[in-house]
Amino acid sequence: MGRQSNLPKLGLIFLSLILLINFLTLNAESKKDKDITTDNLNVKVEIVEALKENIDGSRFILNCAECHGFDGNSVNPELPNIAGLNEKYIIRQLEDFKTGKRVNEEMMIIVREFPSDKELTSLASYFSKQEMINQNTPESIKNHEFIDLKIGEEIFTGKRIEYGIPACSACHGEDGLGDKEGVFPRLVGQQMDYIIKQMEAFRSGGRSNDAPPQMRNIAKQMDDEDIASVAAYIAYMGME
Ligand code: HEC
Ligand code: HEC
Repeated sequence: MGRQSNLPKLGLIFLSLILLINFLTLNAESKKDKDITTDNLNVKVEIVEALKENIDGSRFILNCAECHGFDGNSVNPELPNIAGLNEKYIIRQLEDFKTGKRVNEEMMIIVREFPSDKELTSLASYFSKQEMINQNTPESIKNHEFIDLKIGEEIFTGKRIEYGIPACSACHGEDGLGDKEGVFPRLVGQQMDYIIKQMEAFRSGGRSNDAPPQMRNIAKQMDDEDIASVAAYIAYMGME
């Protein structure tokens, strides 16, 4: 009797093993094969990777993906890429949304749902390890008004200091990749529309979580042409 009732159990274990092996091989193959771009498959790999690392915040990843993409590369040019941003910078921004120091309704609603700091830091760690992809193209850049790339370059490299605009590169790095401490965020590879939106927000004071008010003071010295031009220059830097 005992033997008989064990048979279906063994069958079930065997079936589970086959399914597991299939699943693992499928993922291993899709990682090897760079040509596979099916969204569904990439999504699976991302989630499986996150779960494998036992990420506490993994239950939020689907949520974040809606706006920032599974790998942190935003699906909408007005939303920031969060892939490859410094972990400490991400944590600071999430905390600022939580306390209301940085105001954005969508983000504030989301961070209010974070039950623990552990989940917040693990999400920051996950997204910081993804690769930021520059999604700006010459065509998308040309959609903007008031662009003068020469002005953009001069602003970025500090040749407009007499107009009260210090070099962006002085803080964000000559390569625009930010610093290792997470004080100065990476700009190169970021969505151009988002950069413009942030500069306008710093200028109007709508974003005021830069303490001391370095970005607010700089943005106040810049007109629309300055902002669009430097954002375009940064977008082109990401294509090199
Ligand atoms: C409904 C859309 C939406 C969802 C979902 C969302 N975000 Fe955001 N996120 C935004 C918007 C919009 C901004 C830009 C806010 C602004 O303009 O200041 C932003 C900004 C951020 C920033 C700041 C980026 C920077 O460069 O300063 C981080 C970090 C971030 N989100 C992380 C997350 C994480 C982690 C999740 C999931 C838990 C998430 N977001 C879910 C819309 C969203
Ligand atoms: C004196 C240092 C300093 C200089 C110079 C500077 N920045 Fe910043 N910038 C910062 C700091 C610090 C932050 C992060 C503020 C925070 O923690 O929220 C920042 C944030 C930003 C952001 C927001 C990025 C994001 O992911 O949300 C943009 C865009 C930006 N800077 C653009 C520029 C541009 C363009 C220039 C040149 C005109 C420039 N910055 C010059 C210090 C500087």
